[in-house]
Amino acid sequence: MKTTVKAITAMLAMVFAGTVWSLTPAEEKIAERIKPVGEVCVEGQECKAAQAAVAAAAPSGPREPADIYASKCFACHDTGVANAPKKGDAAAWGPRIEQGMETLVTHAINGIRGMPPRGTCGDCSDDEIKATVEFIVEQSQ
Ligand code: HEC
Repeated sequence: MKTTVKAITAMLAMVFAGTVWSLTPAEEKIAERIKPVGEVCVEGQECKAAQAAVAAAAPSGPREPADIYASKCFACHDTGVANAPKKGDAAAWGPRIEQGMETLVTHAINGIRGMPPRGTCGDCSDDEIKATVEFIVEQSQ
């Protein structure tokens, strides 16, 4: 008998808790923030600002080869680690450049020996890798 009473009390407590539960102002703010942008945006003026912010944050086309180089490739191609040909070292790049641009780019995309695929820039597009290889080659002749 006692256990039944306890169980019912517990169930009532759960139901009650469910009905009175509501968001605190702080929680409401969080809920507002994590709403999908489109949903926040149906309502009006603030919307445009939010959409502009999203547009600004989204990548707006290919990244600059110099930036890709500076964030990824430099780690090996500035230091010469693992015998990576250094940027600016015409003697090291000469024979590689002779292979032709297409081969260089293919090797950069797929990796070759100590050169990892995409030079560790996993989210670089083929075009971004190609532009970065061109950038390195231009600076190494
Ligand atoms: C972890 C080190 C490392 C990183 C990071 C790296 N490379 Fe390399 N890369 C190498 C090494 C080592 C070689 C020489 C491989 C060989 O020929 O043995 C090389 C060679 C190359 C070559 C010449 C390939 C050939 O056919 O001779 C190109 C082009 C190249 N890297 C482009 C890039 C680009 C572009 C990036 C950045 C997106 C990059 N690398 C990042 C290590 C690296």
